Amino acid sequence: MAPIVEMINIIDDEESISSSSSDEVCLSNVANSDTHGENSPYFAGWKAYDENPYNEIDNPSGVIQMGLAENQVSFDLLEQGSEQHSSKATTINNNNSSGTGKGNNNISSFRETALYQDYHGLLSFRHAMASFMEEIRGGRAKFDPNRIVLTAGATAANELLTFILANPGDALLVPTPYYPGFDRDLRWRTGVQIVAIHCDSSNNFQVTTQALEDAYKRAQGKNMKVRGVLITNPSNPLGATIQRETLEEIFDFVTSKNIHLVSDEIYSGSVFSSSEFTSIAQVLQARDYKGADRVHIVYSLSKDLASQGSELALSTHTMTKW
Ligand SMILES: Cc1ncc(COP(=O)(O)O)c(C=O)c1O
Repeated sequence: MAPIVEMINIIDDEESISSSSSDEVCLSNVANSDTHGENSPYFAGWKAYDENPYNEIDNPSGVIQMGLAENQVSFDLLEQGSEQHSSKATTINNNNSSGTGKGNNNISSFRETALYQDYHGLLSFRHAMASFMEEIRGGRAKFDPNRIVLTAGATAANELLTFILANPGDALLVPTPYYPGFDRDLRWRTGVQIVAIHCDSSNNFQVTTQALEDAYKRAQGKNMKVRGVLITNPSNPLGATIQRETLEEIFDFVTSKNIHLVSDEIYSGSVFSSSEFTSIAQVLQARDYKGADRVHIVYSLSKDLASQGSELALSTHTMTKW
């Protein structure tokens, strides 16, 4: 799989970030840090087990996982309990309506979800998210489940992306007017600054290359490094979609500056018809995904499925060539 974190090229300090080659878009010091511990013997053991798991019959010389505290000995009791209380059990037996607790391939769906899973989110759910995101774009864009990372809502994804893409004191350019929550999500804990891309009513608040350049220069004038542009398409609060030509211009701009583009498409299913909305994914597809690694799409079920309170699922999709 290729989640965001695996795109990282090891670069140690701020100096080396700024001098990296021109076709390689930079990530933050936090993202590039090798102090996360994933290269410790503990995780080396995990990887060895993942690659060569022990099985009494099929792989007796495989690796036995001794480093994971999963309580599996009481599953039979828990499954019995969930069958006895089947109305409650339906929430966890989501693969099977019969209440037997058995999901696809006769694997207990309870076990599937109760055990530790991939930290990027349940693969079956990421598949469902990818196909739902394709469906609401009228099948005109493709998404790869292996490049989706699930978080608790778009709020968490936007903050996570900001931590990954920018260092404290760096800038993200955001078209105005913007969703006021971005002041909290992008700035508060990350220490990253928002620099406004000024848009106005004379052209229906569309982003222009001139406005992008102006914002970029303003950030530089304040000695900030610009790490990316964040657009919201369709827009909150405008309720308008960004025209395809404008998306092309924004993508050309971020490419010329070698910075990231985050496209918050949380309202993509809330248009009157899917043809009224163009996703940045379609622009990339038409360009054979050239430069797609700099693009990150944020999506959430909060709005389109009216499930705000649940913060059910969000996908951050980093684009790549198919
Ligand atoms: C543009 C935009 N992004 C993100 C969010 C937050 O989404 P979530 O509820 O998935 O955290 C909102 C909520 O209003 C929003 O308008």
